[in-house]
Amino acid sequence: MNFVVLDDLVSDAESRFSAATDLVTLENEKAYFFGKKGIFTKLFKEIKNLNFDEKRKHGNKINQIKKKIEHLLTKYRKIFNEAELNKLLTEESIDVTLPGRGTSLGSVHPIMQSWKRIEEIFCSFGFDIIDGPEIEDDWTNFTALNNALDHPARSMQDTFYIDINDDQGLPLLLRTHTSPMQVRHAKMNHPPIKIIAPGKTYRIDNDSTHSPMFHQIEGLWISDNISFSHLKGIYTNFLHCFFETDNISVRFRPSFFPFTEPSAEIDMKFTTGPNKNQWMEISGSGQVHPKVMLNFGLDPKRYIGFAFGSGLERLTMLRYGINDLRQFYEGDLRFARQFSK
Ligand code: DAH
Repeated sequence: MNFVVLDDLVSDAESRFSAATDLVTLENEKAYFFGKKGIFTKLFKEIKNLNFDEKRKHGNKINQIKKKIEHLLTKYRKIFNEAELNKLLTEESIDVTLPGRGTSLGSVHPIMQSWKRIEEIFCSFGFDIIDGPEIEDDWTNFTALNNALDHPARSMQDTFYIDINDDQGLPLLLRTHTSPMQVRHAKMNHPPIKIIAPGKTYRIDNDSTHSPMFHQIEGLWISDNISFSHLKGIYTNFLHCFFETDNISVRFRPSFFPFTEPSAEIDMKFTTGPNKNQWMEISGSGQVHPKVMLNFGLDPKRYIGFAFGSGLERLTMLRYGINDLRQFYEGDLRFARQFSK
């Protein structure tokens, strides 16, 4: 084995690597030396049959040369990498003077905006916010609220039943109103109770003024020294805050709900603006029925309760001047974007 020839390999590598035009051709040259059929593989094969001393001598020399060439390779790789990066930087320059594409921000759905707004208003009146399940049992949704099984008022609410039975063997259902949340809360808590319970509700109904899923907001106030005027005061105040005007009149019109006695429909009218002087039904309300109070586990002789249940869609439609309920659920971005803050 000739050492002079081995030394020549370094200058050979230097000229091959420097002649490469880019990283790809450089890697090809690397294979010439270090590939499976490359020079070094052959050299190591050749020394296999030498005796121990010779093997050591030649082995050391080959390794020295190999190291030098590897160093050269690293040097040239660096040179080509830098050259490629510089090429990219000049070719792909960014024109910072171009106008931006803009970002499109999402917006909170108008129903959710009302929901949060109503929560804030009632919290400022000292009400707590509570929650409850959308899948209800028959007792909590109907019976506890004085809707016995054969009570005709049950047909006021067309119900989605679920194919699973509750403890009494009756099918579970999608709650038809937010009132069952009153029941759950009042059974577990002592008066004074001052809560609102917003949520989704479900009925078999679908046209321009009804949707199978809609939202209500329930209110319940139980204490031992309140009267109907408290309910009227709170609700009127709420409407003034919600619509951001004091130019609203409120009236309570006698009505019927099985769970309240007496019951009243709450009507409102704007006293200024384009819709002025038109009475609009805005909420059901009433004094908690003694039977319902008993179902809460409370003494109707000791406690008095007032409740209301309002449609969130209706309040939102009035606030923003929306006339078709279905627009809320169509997911049309042109509609939704109008409500971004
Ligand atoms: N739950 C009634 C409904 O969905 C609304 C309602 C009326 C709720 C009177 C009340 C109430 O709490 O007192 O039609």
